[in-house]
Amino acid sequence: MTQDELKTLVGQAALKYVVPGEVIGVGTGSTVNKFIDALATIKDQIKGAVSSSVASTQRLQALGIPVLDANEVDELAVYVDGADEIDGRGYMIKGGGAALTREKIVAALSRQFVCIVDESKVVSSLGKFPLPVEVIPMAAQRIARQFDAMGAHAVLRTVEGQPLVTDNGQHILDVHGLSIDEPLAFEQQVNQWAGVVTVGVFANQRAHVALVGTASGVKALNFG
Ligand code: 5RP
Repeated sequence: MTQDELKTLVGQAALKYVVPGEVIGVGTGSTVNKFIDALATIKDQIKGAVSSSVASTQRLQALGIPVLDANEVDELAVYVDGADEIDGRGYMIKGGGAALTREKIVAALSRQFVCIVDESKVVSSLGKFPLPVEVIPMAAQRIARQFDAMGAHAVLRTVEGQPLVTDNGQHILDVHGLSIDEPLAFEQQVNQWAGVVTVGVFANQRAHVALVGTASGVKALNFG
């Protein structure tokens, strides 16, 4: 099975976590796009979605799924999103699609985080995937030096030679060479640095369930 087929498989498998009559939280990325496509087939059963990015909002609306502002809901039953890495405790690295800040906000609103990934994303320890960190542009170089001091190397994400600008008007640093053994402590530490908007370690907002696409089907991991 190709990686794309595995993404389709988990995108469809996540439908069983959608609570009828409720608003669903929707993440961002190529795996979530498969989920959005599947969600469109049961759109009459839900009130709508809270989206974590402009890209997901556009896809949801194009398929006729109403998108609500996050401030219109007190809580969401379920949030479905992908990840760049997920470990055996449900801790994740996210932000490869630059949507980490809104993803963390929608995850924080949700009672259950259902992570959909293909098996290449499951790791024993976080850090091989360069860690995305959304930063206020004027703080980027100082924050990069703070990562250098930890023995890592931060690179400003660019598109066609220009700094990538997120949906929130900020920049992204991709941090190479980290080994994140204590994700909760790491997230808390980096969150406190001046100018950090969001660190792409999702430990406070970890996954409760992962649906992992494998050659032999979808494997569900429950993290409690
Ligand atoms: C976007 C994300 C995505 O969930 C992550 O990058 C995985 O994306 P994909 O499903 O395309 O591999 O965090 O900010």
